[in-house]
Amino acid sequence: MRVLSGIQPSGALHIGNYFGAIRQYVALQQGNDAFYFVANYHALTSVRNAEQLRRYVFDVLVDLLSLGIDPEHATLFVQSDVPETTELAWLLTSVTPMGWLEKAVSYKDKVQQGLPAEHGLFAYPVLQAADILLYDADVVPVGQDQKQHLEITRDVAERFNHIYGKGEEVFRLPKPYILDHVAVVPGVDGRKMSKSYQNTIEIFDDPATIRKKCKKIVTDSTPVEAPKNPETCSLFSLFKLFAPADELADVERRYREGGIGYGEMKTRLAEGIILHFAGARERRAEWVAHPARVAEVRAAAAERARRAARAVLDRARAASGVD
Ligand code: ADP
Ligand code: TRP
Repeated sequence: MRVLSGIQPSGALHIGNYFGAIRQYVALQQGNDAFYFVANYHALTSVRNAEQLRRYVFDVLVDLLSLGIDPEHATLFVQSDVPETTELAWLLTSVTPMGWLEKAVSYKDKVQQGLPAEHGLFAYPVLQAADILLYDADVVPVGQDQKQHLEITRDVAERFNHIYGKGEEVFRLPKPYILDHVAVVPGVDGRKMSKSYQNTIEIFDDPATIRKKCKKIVTDSTPVEAPKNPETCSLFSLFKLFAPADELADVERRYREGGIGYGEMKTRLAEGIILHFAGARERRAEWVAHPARVAEVRAAAAERARRAARAVLDRARAASGVD
């Protein structure tokens, strides 16, 4: 199977990104043909400082390498190293009905959050369709919020196939890969964890910051002794991601019976997070100390990705007559 996914370099990665997407990237690189990329063309809609964008691209590469993306098993590249992407985006945008983009919720959300209503933001799903179709992806691991973008990708692919395919498929239709139990990781305020809500716990925050942020997680004011409902508690949802099974069962029982306080939960969660990423933190320091190795990984991956992309782009050019 060809697996493909992208992540925007628009700030430090948080634990929602990890459980919603990156952990699946790591799992799927075994036994599949995996392509993962840093979506810097997409980040142009929100990062407007060239130096900062370059730094974020480097940071995301290093984060992914430290979290277990193995350049021996996966092609880890940068989107703009394959400029074929933007050419395919034009072929696709030429057959994309306005109405499909007008109903995209992420555009509306982002404008509401204060991003300028620019064409790049509006056409964002078409660029994403190009990312996916350019590599003949079968499976795209993402979080729940990307489901609509995957639907648009399939619709655009089908429409292009229908217009130009002459009975044959120009593009392969991709499927989203979304794990239900981690589809939405809550942030410290109980809403979906997201950079744009400033409610994140970053994977590579230093331990003191992680402890501080965990203390800020919003809870109700049920006293220690009183029974609590784990299903509606975002602190518990976060804890569940990090706790070993036996510890989880014990905590869940104490929630339902009463006898565990939110203060204790916050401390246990913070220590769980710190421990969980301890190995990745060490590997990250190694990569950061050797930027030339990161550049080597990037260059080798760009070459592989470009070769794969060229074949599909040529197919699309021939089908549409712009060859
Ligand atoms: P953000 O919302 O912080 O800007 P991105 O949109 O860059 O995050 O998301 C990158 C990837 O991480 C996507 O696949 C997205 O679905 C996933 N993701 C982001 N936040 C969460 C979350 N809170 N829970 C689950 N998955 C998430
Ligand atoms: N839009 C995705 C996000 O915000 C990032 C992305 C860009 C992507 N291109 C992609 C994800 C292609 C999967 C496949 O998270």
